[in-house]
Amino acid sequence: MEYTYEYFKEIADFLKTKVDYTPEIAIILGSCLGPFAEQIENPVVVDYKDIPNFLVSTVPSHAGKMIFGTVCGRKVVCMSGRFHTYEGYSYEQLVLPIRVFKLLGVKATILTNAAGAVNTSYRPGDVMIISDHIKFNGDSPLRGKNIPEFGSRFFDISRMYTPELRKLALECAEGSGLTVHEGVYFFFTGPQFETPAEIRAARILGGDAVGMSTVTEALTAAHCDMPLLGLSVMTNMAAGVLDRPLTSEEVDETAKVISIKFSEYVKRIIQQM
Ligand code: HPA
Repeated sequence: MEYTYEYFKEIADFLKTKVDYTPEIAIILGSCLGPFAEQIENPVVVDYKDIPNFLVSTVPSHAGKMIFGTVCGRKVVCMSGRFHTYEGYSYEQLVLPIRVFKLLGVKATILTNAAGAVNTSYRPGDVMIISDHIKFNGDSPLRGKNIPEFGSRFFDISRMYTPELRKLALECAEGSGLTVHEGVYFFFTGPQFETPAEIRAARILGGDAVGMSTVTEALTAAHCDMPLLGLSVMTNMAAGVLDRPLTSEEVDETAKVISIKFSEYVKRIIQQM
């Protein structure tokens, strides 16, 4: 299957018929961070399954809904539920959300995710503003024929997580009631959690948190010159940090506990953007 410019345009053209405004900011909600979607005013909800050429969320904690609306007076589009390579999607398919946002006219994207804390000074419930990432696993989502309407064949990724948005997110942390760090996100493909040895290696290599998402979207954003903010919620200490097995229930439980405060924090950032 070849993903052409027209393929993405068909999706965006369909979505443009759903609202009569251009969303300024896009948000992709990670595992169990869905409650943010309830904060969107005047929501127009589109099921992924009803969007031509779109993908579907197969993870139970991902709703699979695209929501247009207003947050703090700003026009937004929010994806409640994202796509991961561990669901069986190819890396090339994972460019889809960001390219659709670009074609919708979105000016900046916020990516959120649930992550394991590699940095032992972090605690479950802390937030990490992603300063950079390490991706040694899997292909690039930009592999294959380049689509020049989106960007160049070779492109810079040294400012992928937009410095000005990182600074703003740090400023908004004050008074949020959250402990907010800045750090490096280390990508693993999943769906298995990592081995303790992989986590030790990630730490030595400079990783502060681990997760199974986000990097493909970040690379796609860099390719099409989309300003980007990445926020990780530490839902657990990474494998081997504590002397007990890791469970998805632990991840879900922390995400649930933090989701209200985290939603308020994201809203505050959107207001200031
Ligand atoms: N590893 C990978 N992905 C995750 C983790 C983790 O420990 N926690 C939440 N998502």
